[in-house]
Amino acid sequence: MLRLVDPTKHFPDPTIEELNRPPLGSIASRVDAIEWLQVDSTLATRPYALLPKLLTEQECTRLVEMYGQDQRFRSRVVMERYAFGKGEYKYFDYPLPDIVQELRASLYRHLWPIANHWHAALSLEERFPATHREFVDICEASGQRRPTPLMLTYAQDDYCCLHQDLYGDHVFPFQVIFMLSNPDRDFTGGELLLTEAAPKKPTKVEVVHLNVGQAVLVPVNFRPVFTERGAYRANVRHGVSLTVSQE
Ligand SMILES: [Fe+2]
Repeated sequence: MLRLVDPTKHFPDPTIEELNRPPLGSIASRVDAIEWLQVDSTLATRPYALLPKLLTEQECTRLVEMYGQDQRFRSRVVMERYAFGKGEYKYFDYPLPDIVQELRASLYRHLWPIANHWHAALSLEERFPATHREFVDICEASGQRRPTPLMLTYAQDDYCCLHQDLYGDHVFPFQVIFMLSNPDRDFTGGELLLTEAAPKKPTKVEVVHLNVGQAVLVPVNFRPVFTERGAYRANVRHGVSLTVSQE
């Protein structure tokens, strides 16, 4: 089990070189190679942790190509219809593509202890099991049966309003967002935005720039802010700024 970080101790952020190192080996071995103590420490100070490149450009292209294969998806959402923003996304159906399934299971294996630490710090009752399969079983037993991995696509002038991705009573407190396009080559604008709102404090805003194949770990709905007297809850939302130009 992961040793949990002392929230007062700060680990240095990964360097740009470390973040852009080409991914090698299986998905599980790439995820296992992440400095998880560093990730845990980073999340104690801000509402996101950049992860090293987890996907190759070829793997990103393969995923992008799946977007046109309707049989892979259970539903398509046109954001303008719901005032979510402008653009669209599709939820993958079961069976998930191997790469998505491997990412889910291997990321979960490192995240559940941090999730439990967060819940304990905020005096929340729910605890998460050690495998993703067990967590999915718990969700399914309470009626949360549909898979939630999704792929978004934005054209010029598209954007996504600030929101939280909540689907039911059982909420694993982390999600991982991957950049599948190449921001320098394919578009400008379209930056990931995060806000963090804590009681009686002004809302903080973060802009997270991702390169192709890179991922960022963000809280789904909150994170604990650790103080000497304990922890308090800061609510986190995410969105995407206007896509200014698109090749
Ligand atoms: Fe979202």
